Amino acid sequence: YLHCFILFVLLHGVISDHRNVLDSRVCFDDKFSFGVATASYQIEGAWNVSGKGESIWDRYTHAHPDMVVDRSNADVADGSYYKVKEDVALMVKLGIGFYRFSIAWSRILPIGLSNYVNEDGIRYYKELLAELRRNHITPVATMYHFDLPQNLQELGGWTNPIMADYFVDYARVLLDTFGDEIKIWLTFNEPYTFCEDGYGGIEAPGANSSGFEDYLCGHNVLRAHGMVYRMFDKEYRKKIGGHMGITLDFSWLEPATTSVEDQQAAETARQFYFGWFAHPIFSKYGDYPPVMRSMIDANSKRQGFYHSRLPYFTSKEVEMIRGAYDFLGLNHYTTYLVKHGSRRISLQPSFIDDMNVIKFQRDEWPKTNSSWLKVVPWGFRKALNWVRVNYRNPKTLITENGVAFERGLHDTKRVNYIDSYLRSLHAAIHQDGCYVIGYAYWSLLDNFEWTRGFSERFGLHEVDYQSPNLTRTPRLSAKYFTSVAKTGCLPN
Ligand code: NOJ
Repeated sequence: YLHCFILFVLLHGVISDHRNVLDSRVCFDDKFSFGVATASYQIEGAWNVSGKGESIWDRYTHAHPDMVVDRSNADVADGSYYKVKEDVALMVKLGIGFYRFSIAWSRILPIGLSNYVNEDGIRYYKELLAELRRNHITPVATMYHFDLPQNLQELGGWTNPIMADYFVDYARVLLDTFGDEIKIWLTFNEPYTFCEDGYGGIEAPGANSSGFEDYLCGHNVLRAHGMVYRMFDKEYRKKIGGHMGITLDFSWLEPATTSVEDQQAAETARQFYFGWFAHPIFSKYGDYPPVMRSMIDANSKRQGFYHSRLPYFTSKEVEMIRGAYDFLGLNHYTTYLVKHGSRRISLQPSFIDDMNVIKFQRDEWPKTNSSWLKVVPWGFRKALNWVRVNYRNPKTLITENGVAFERGLHDTKRVNYIDSYLRSLHAAIHQDGCYVIGYAYWSLLDNFEWTRGFSERFGLHEVDYQSPNLTRTPRLSAKYFTSVAKTGCLPN
């Protein structure tokens, strides 16, 4: 008996030790889904093939090669237009559950308008969808990822209110054509980026009119989003089902000190960078964040404008935009520290002056190949919790998280980045109660990183741009991500 008892105690110890090892693993639950993300202009190539019209990024890179660090463009990019089978095969190997891609407006409607639909463009996305379906990978489609048809830019692009109507027409074509197959839709990707960097900075279309055209762009994009969501809700949801959201980018903004001024400055910065688009849609109040409203109104007045540079919504528009979501798509990459600015009224309108804060990163934070991206995993958890508290814990899909490092297949730094960010995400879900349903790594492949060309590589797969068939090779991070996607757990 004594022997049996000792054996029992020993075995019990071994078994529970073993279990402890298992229990200590960080695991996401069964329903949580892993995926990868890309965007049309960054990977497709075939910029003027099979009836595709010119987009603002085609025009911008051709007309201003100096604006791209390596003077490259995405005429060819990863050639994904010709590599549906090959790219989906990479996803199958990764064992992922969903693929987030974007549809190029000018491939479907070459001049942006619904009077002429390009059947070849439709065929391409149908081919992609069929291949995904065959392999049980759920498509998540973004309607607009920065590539406005050039023809519509001639009308002022997103600064023209009519753009919202044209976006509705385009969305209708997409829902009619692909609604049976695509059940998860994002209207826009990162409106902050394309309105601020596009209309207030140096990305396409390069309007460089900060504090003015950027706000017009934001206004029309919010209207367009609300209009498409309401159309979807009223006319399509019953018929074809599905879910619609919007992807917003949120870098965490942490006060640089514990002073009241810096705490306030950080909160102001969150409202300007994220609340600009999030508050009208996700807060229970609708409309722009009050701090944005009051600061821009006051500055506009001081600068001698009779009307605020930040347009006003009608009360009907507020109603239309408020709550226009089934879920939030969130892109998160990094964190900044924020100090209060020294108020100076410049005569020149400017987003940064309106906000009046100073934003920077610590030198000690680990660097990457992107000047703006330092590795700060704890910021992810904070950003998610800020969303939870401010917007009543919306259902959230991480539509992008990723990092660029130097070329090479042995990318342990990328593995560490993903692992540390996933741990932070796990804590946000399992310890804090944030409602997050999935995570997409940016990106499946190296691709055209906008004004940074091909110099910044975010891929789980390396693309050899010298080889005639643009060979894709999995990095160590692809192996790592496969194990995460297949087991739902992070390796110990
Ligand atoms: C966000 C954008 O959506 C994507 O197009 C870009 O490549 C990544 N961030 C990395 O900068």
